Amino acid sequence: KEVLEPKKELARRAVLVTAGGTREPIDPVRYVGNRSSGKMGYALAETAALRGAEVYLVSAPTGLTVPDGVQVINVETAEQMRRAVLELYPRMDVVIKAAAVADYRPRAMVDQKIKKNESSLVLELEKTTDILAELGRQKTHQLLVGFAAETEDLINNAREKINKKNLDLLVANDVTQPGAGFGSDTNLVQILYPDGTVEPQPVMDKLALSEVIWDKIQQLLLVKK
Ligand code: CTP
Ligand code: CA
Repeated sequence: KEVLEPKKELARRAVLVTAGGTREPIDPVRYVGNRSSGKMGYALAETAALRGAEVYLVSAPTGLTVPDGVQVINVETAEQMRRAVLELYPRMDVVIKAAAVADYRPRAMVDQKIKKNESSLVLELEKTTDILAELGRQKTHQLLVGFAAETEDLINNAREKINKKNLDLLVANDVTQPGAGFGSDTNLVQILYPDGTVEPQPVMDKLALSEVIWDKIQQLLLVKK
């Protein structure tokens, strides 16, 4: 009986995927978070592992099961994610930043649980470091893939991100569309390249989309050689 072996198109490639939404502490029991489910990043890690890659998943809390053959590094904050990613970066061939990283964090973490003593509370936030932009500046041989969540002017905003962050590919989703992004099992995206090419994709479940994204990345890896 014939056994069909899956093709190991990513054999001998080291890849890093980030996933989930970071949590930025306010006090010991509260945080600033976002609605990212982590499903897209976990699907990308799963597909890469099935294709034979050495896969590292730097994950903010998701509650999802880590796919077989994937090495997970659990983090909570944007700064923890940044450190984990920068440490792995030099020996990676591909990095995909699917995580929803906080843009702002509370300026100070309060040691004690905040009491409801006042009628209102002002939370001061400071900007986090843009991890992907930092990777773009430090890029040597790596193929760098970003995600962009937009609610307006998708293509223009996404084009700006691909250039500013020195990316090789950007997956842009309009999170206002039904079936796109945050929490959903499906995604509706357009894939952009630095030369300005845009490839709209149909609505797909996140595992199917992860296959498409890896197909595109593999093409880029081939022409890069
Ligand atoms: N990203 C990152 N570090 C941050 C913020 C974002 O690495 N501190 C990455 C995300 O993982 C994603 C990409 O940058 O791959 C785009 O994230 P997005 O939120 O769409 O864009 P921003 O550059 O943060 O700009 P804005 O939120 O203002 O649209
Ligand atoms: Ca952002």
